[in-house]
Amino acid sequence: MTTTRSDIAPAEGKLGVLIPGLGAVATTFIAGVEAIRRHQAAPIGSLTQMGAIRLGKRTENRNPLIREFVPLAKLDDLVFGGWDIYEGDCYQAAARAEVLEPKLLETVRPALEAILPMPAVFDQNYVKRLHGPNVKHGANKRELAEALREDIRRFQNTSGAARLIMIWCGSTEAFRRPGAVHASLAAFETGLKNNDPDIAPSMIYAYAALQEGVPYANGAPNLTTEIPALLELSRAKGAPVCGKDFKTGQTLMKTILAPGLKARLLGLSGWFSTNILGNRDGEVLDDPESFKTKEESKLSVLEHIFQPERYPELYKNFYHKVRINYYPPRGDNKEGWDNIDIFGWLGYPMQIKIDFLCRDSILAAPIALDLVLFLDLARRCAELRDKGIQEWLSFYFKSPITPPGLYPEHDLFIQLMKLKNTLRHIQGEELITHLGLEYYD
Ligand SMILES: NC(=O)c1ccc[n+]([C@@H]2O[C@H](COP(=O)([O-])OP(=O)(O)OC[C@H]3O[C@@H](n4cnc5c(N)ncnc54)[C@H](O)[C@@H]3O)[C@@H](O)[C@H]2O)c1
Repeated sequence: MTTTRSDIAPAEGKLGVLIPGLGAVATTFIAGVEAIRRHQAAPIGSLTQMGAIRLGKRTENRNPLIREFVPLAKLDDLVFGGWDIYEGDCYQAAARAEVLEPKLLETVRPALEAILPMPAVFDQNYVKRLHGPNVKHGANKRELAEALREDIRRFQNTSGAARLIMIWCGSTEAFRRPGAVHASLAAFETGLKNNDPDIAPSMIYAYAALQEGVPYANGAPNLTTEIPALLELSRAKGAPVCGKDFKTGQTLMKTILAPGLKARLLGLSGWFSTNILGNRDGEVLDDPESFKTKEESKLSVLEHIFQPERYPELYKNFYHKVRINYYPPRGDNKEGWDNIDIFGWLGYPMQIKIDFLCRDSILAAPIALDLVLFLDLARRCAELRDKGIQEWLSFYFKSPITPPGLYPEHDLFIQLMKLKNTLRHIQGEELITHLGLEYYD
């Protein structure tokens, strides 16, 4: 099936990347981009930088790099800014995070030192474990949103960026369900004036970004742009959104393995997942309210992949438990264990054990890069922009946002096919169905 090529504006000029939360993930992302553009390291894990895409029939041998197939911003064109509740520059934040080796950090030190966090919009009720001095004060949340909008405009002027993207790499906020104040843009704006406690800091950043026409990606699991108020604003301003919660570590493993078990119709009686991590993210998640947000996000994937309602003999009532334990000695080098109880032919039980000694921010940084570049592409492509939610970017998230009533697709391989077919679609190339009968005619 061939589609008509969409209009895509070229990626001219600089692309400004605005990041609320200049912690481990953000600084590993920024330092990595700097090292890669100096040819000191390779962009491993990034689909936009290293991935290829097959076009046409297998016999045509057309496999361009994705970055040559669609017009993406170049790494040299990225400029960074952001906010944090701590005052240190990005070099200090990266050194504190202890993800990257001091030797590598030294080589990119001037670029990181030049990025100073702007004062943050912060609310202790949403992140109980952190206390920082670099915060904005205002009479109400509306004033705070206005102050962020000014920051965005100022950054655009001083950096000379032609276009901007905002990506939340801030701490996981306390769990909230959508409520009346989130139900429409009008209700949300009244809530900003009235300081409604259900408007989280992340929502104020997203509101400010979308009002400025800036696309917004959510790297954390907290409730932000999936509320009707901000989805309405996203479409009205032509500023796409995507999220939420970067799919790294244990959940990445889950969404790789679970589709395989399901494909072979192997049953599941239980999946126990536990993690130890010792970075600041782990400290924040040690608070039950922030953990609840993360837990919901991590638990949702298996239900959707296994479809217990459709396959009750295999997946009904499987026991799924996720634990995260803050264990300082590990720093950012998390260890994720999974014990999976499965059953096969005639119901015979078997077990799978996974012990993933991963590096959280090393896995998250290329995701942040791809999201920034793809969201910028979506902003320049009228067909994608007008949709608001960018479901084709589900590939990167634990809890992909979908419109109400549409269940999210969690299977990593379906997500990748959706992403690549979206790229083929906007470039007017044939979609790949993998049918392949024509090779035997
Ligand atoms: N690393 C991963 O693999 C991964 C995967 C999925 C999601 N995440 C999420 O990404 C986020 C960042 O992770 P991290 O390891 O970099 O954490 P981190 O603690 O190192 O960095 C978060 C930063 O956000 C700042 N912050 C908190 N609230 C803020 C606010 N309102 N405005 C501005 N700054 C604020 C904190 O001061 C901190 O510096 C977390 O929410 C984490 O759960 C990370």
